[in-house]
Amino acid sequence: MSTYNFDKVINRTNTASIKWEQLKKVFGTEDVLPMWVADMDFEPPHEVAAAIRKRLEHEIIGYTFVPPSTGESIQHWLKKRHDWDIDTSWISYATGIVPAISTAIQAFTEPGDKVLVQSPVYDPFFKMIEKNHRTVVNSPLLLVNNHYEINFEQFEAKLKEGVKLFINCSPHNPGGRVWTKEELTKMADLCYQYNCLFLSDEIHSDLIYAPHVHIPVAKLGSKYQDMIITCIAPTKTFNLAGLKASAVIISNRKLRQSFQDVQALNGTSAINTFGIVGMEAAYRYGSSWLDALLAYLQRNVDEATAFIHDNLPSIEVMQPEGTYLLWLNLRKLHLGDSEIRKLLINRGKLGLESGNKYGPGGEGFVRMNIACPRDILKDGLNRLKQALI
Ligand SMILES: Cc1ncc(COP(=O)(O)O)c(C=O)c1O
Repeated sequence: MSTYNFDKVINRTNTASIKWEQLKKVFGTEDVLPMWVADMDFEPPHEVAAAIRKRLEHEIIGYTFVPPSTGESIQHWLKKRHDWDIDTSWISYATGIVPAISTAIQAFTEPGDKVLVQSPVYDPFFKMIEKNHRTVVNSPLLLVNNHYEINFEQFEAKLKEGVKLFINCSPHNPGGRVWTKEELTKMADLCYQYNCLFLSDEIHSDLIYAPHVHIPVAKLGSKYQDMIITCIAPTKTFNLAGLKASAVIISNRKLRQSFQDVQALNGTSAINTFGIVGMEAAYRYGSSWLDALLAYLQRNVDEATAFIHDNLPSIEVMQPEGTYLLWLNLRKLHLGDSEIRKLLINRGKLGLESGNKYGPGGEGFVRMNIACPRDILKDGLNRLKQALI
């Protein structure tokens, strides 16, 4: 039996939780069940809070550097969970992957340059490219039998236009694809051929369902060593988003220096004391917690899929290979995204993410975060039924 109780329902109000306490702002009403933004309603491994508490025994929270032990915890984690050998000198730290992406855009491209994405995809990719005055080039994913595939012909055609940077979401949010070795190799080969840097956002890479295996694209071969920027974080894996701590792994010395130069320019090189302590504790002690979490999440996925199949047969669940996000295809209902949203909020009292938020190809979908105790999941599924039946 697991020693972790993921069934425990925890009241998260009065913690300034965006997920639970910004409902009025996001959904126009307080009375929706929040299954939207990607954090979990579970306690993280207790070793994280214990480490932070221990650090707080010394109440001076002065300027803090990242000690070598933190880099070693990352190195050890990547070897153990993903069989990826890195050198700790390859790591830069950032206050999140979104800021790291923005830094990478500034470091590796010029205003007006083209940056490639594959929609539907995590929406800040678009925002960071546009806010930095670069040009989004989109090669939408192909929806084949309720499963996303890469449109390689189009992908190559876009690269031929002179793209400087490709941002890949691996595993894929919102579709839950865990890209295969073949897919990753083909994408990396094409980027290599067309001299395009490859940023791999691997924030969801620890949340993988067997038999799928996450492959860090940077470990695919020395040929790609000089073109890959990998972003990882303990925040999604261990439910620590508020710690604002992530790591950017770049083996090429020149690229790493450019990345760090932009951080220095913007004054964003440092991460906060508790982010450092929490990150290290999570990577050092979180492995068995994560194994138990994945088993729990897999059952949530299975229960949600069975419920929707039995009660809402016109909705197709894209089976996630990774992530705790269910991507639901509602297109057979022939409703617009705003109509779906209204039904979910007003009739179902349910707060989900609308698919059109994720760019072209997301229309007619909703994203449901199932990282919650099973009682909450059941409540959410009943609300989904209430809204759409
Ligand atoms: C693909 C992806 N990248 C980045 C983030 C957020 O990263 P951070 O909180 O480290 O900025 C998320 C959060 O949902 C995500 O899904």
